[in-house]
Amino acid sequence: MSYNPMMNSPFLLENQTEYKKWRDNKLAQYPASKNKILVKLNNSNLNNNSINLLRDSINKYNFGIYEFNSKLTNEYLKKFCSKLKLLQSVSNLLADENDISNITNQNTERKQSSGIEYIPYTNKQLNWHTDGYYYPIDSAVKSFLLHCEHPAKIGGENILLDHEIMYIFLRDHNPDYIKILMQNDIMEIPGNKNIKGSSSIKGPVFYIDEKNFLNMRFTSRQQNIIWQKSDMIKKIKDYIFSFIAEDNYYTFNILLRENQGYIANNVLHKRKEYVDGDKKRLLKRLRFSERVE
Ligand SMILES: [Fe+2]
Repeated sequence: MSYNPMMNSPFLLENQTEYKKWRDNKLAQYPASKNKILVKLNNSNLNNNSINLLRDSINKYNFGIYEFNSKLTNEYLKKFCSKLKLLQSVSNLLADENDISNITNQNTERKQSSGIEYIPYTNKQLNWHTDGYYYPIDSAVKSFLLHCEHPAKIGGENILLDHEIMYIFLRDHNPDYIKILMQNDIMEIPGNKNIKGSSSIKGPVFYIDEKNFLNMRFTSRQQNIIWQKSDMIKKIKDYIFSFIAEDNYYTFNILLRENQGYIANNVLHKRKEYVDGDKKRLLKRLRFSERVE
């Protein structure tokens, strides 16, 4: 499915003036420290003021970090999301009836019962990706929340990079890179052998959605992904991989503490490996098919 983006969208290559304006404004928000972004929230008094602070941050960086004063129930978590107008949650096989996934190390139990290992549900490092990159763009994940109920003893940091920053660096380096990454058959995810009826999905890396926002589908995994083959794609991939390889001026390194979390308009992110203490690390995740506007 494709949409007709707004004529003056900064994400269209022909709109250099609009792009320049949008780009300069975006880059002017950096450097940013995560401590300044953190918004403190009160469970018993979730006022519009603090919600607006969070929204401001998401506007600038495509994510916002918050901290509640005490533990939240699943119902409260959903209510909190609805304050940000996140209403259409996206379910998955491992989510509960609230579409909440408990991200914790289930490796031993799960592997024994099914023989399949899902890296998010282990204590291993999770490489750079956007959520739901394996979905077609008409059922995309546009935002997600990750809420920490209990941190690991050691590690488990999340590293975030606004996908719009990635777009800027690619476009400034070579606008043809963007042209290629917006092609509808650039990246293919083969059907999952373990899921009956699953078929392969082709799509772009960057696309402009029906509300004129820029979205990114990306995974740095090398298996179960088929990139279009050309010298140019190889160059583009090398560029992306070197940009995200190390912490830079634009990445945020976030170690969520108890009752902290972040909400993101599906930015690029990864997770470092971790070690559990007596109590297992537990993060609650909700995904949505709309973004925070
Ligand atoms: Fe993720």
